[in-house]
Amino acid sequence: MAVEGPAAARPETPQNREQRKGVIMENTNEMSLEFDSRSLNEGFVRVAVAAFATQLNPTLEEVADLKTAVSEAVTNAIIHAYEKQVEKIRIDCRVRGREMEVEIVDHGVGIPDVQKAMEPMYTTKPEMDRSGMGFAFMEAFMDELRVKSEPGVGTTVWMKKKFGCQSGQNDLSGDA
Ligand SMILES: Nc1ncnc2c1ncn2[C@@H]1O[C@H](COP(=O)(O)OP(=O)(O)OP(=O)(O)O)[C@@H](O)[C@H]1O
Ligand SMILES: [Mg+2]
Repeated sequence: MAVEGPAAARPETPQNREQRKGVIMENTNEMSLEFDSRSLNEGFVRVAVAAFATQLNPTLEEVADLKTAVSEAVTNAIIHAYEKQVEKIRIDCRVRGREMEVEIVDHGVGIPDVQKAMEPMYTTKPEMDRSGMGFAFMEAFMDELRVKSEPGVGTTVWMKKKFGCQSGQNDLSGDA
C-alpha cells in the first residue's frame, strides 16, 4: 500500500500547485462597499460589515469589537478626511480562514504624521469634542492595524481580526 507523506514533503508539480491555489481561493470570501462620506452612512456600514462577519460564527463580543473599529475608521474618513465635503469612501472586507481583513480607503486630506495621529488622546479637532481615541480603539479591538497616509492624497486603514472557532461553521471549503 502506498503511503503518502505530508503535502510539504511531496515534490511541487504544476498540478498540485494548481490544487493548492484552488484550496486557498475557496477559503476566502470578499465584499466591497463604496459610499458617500455622510455621517448617516456610518451606522449602515458598521452593520453591513458585522453581517458579513456572521459567516465566521463570531461571539457577541467579537462582533461588538469589529463594529467599534469599523465605526472609528469610517467616522475618521467622514469628519477628518473630507471635512464638510461629500466624497467617496471605500471599504473592502476579506474573510480568509478564521481571519477577517478590513480596509477603509479615502482620498481626503491625508495625515502629515501618522505616528503622532495614532497616539492615544491626540486629536486635531478638540473643539468638536473629539477625544483622540479612535486609533487607540482600532488597535485595542482588532489584532493588527496599519495606517498609510499621504497629505493631499488620502488615507488607508488596514485592520485584521482573528475569530475564535465556535462550532466549525466558519469553514468555507464546502461552498458551492
Ligand atoms: N482618514 C483620516 N484623514 C485625515 N486625518 C485623519 C484621518 N483619520 C484620522 N485622522 C487624524 O488623526 C487624528 C487622530 O484620530 P483619532 O480617531 O485617534 O482621534 P479623533 O478622531 O480626533 O477623536 P475620536 O476618534 O476620539 O473622536 C485625528 O484628529 C485627525 O487629525
Ligand atoms: Mg476618530
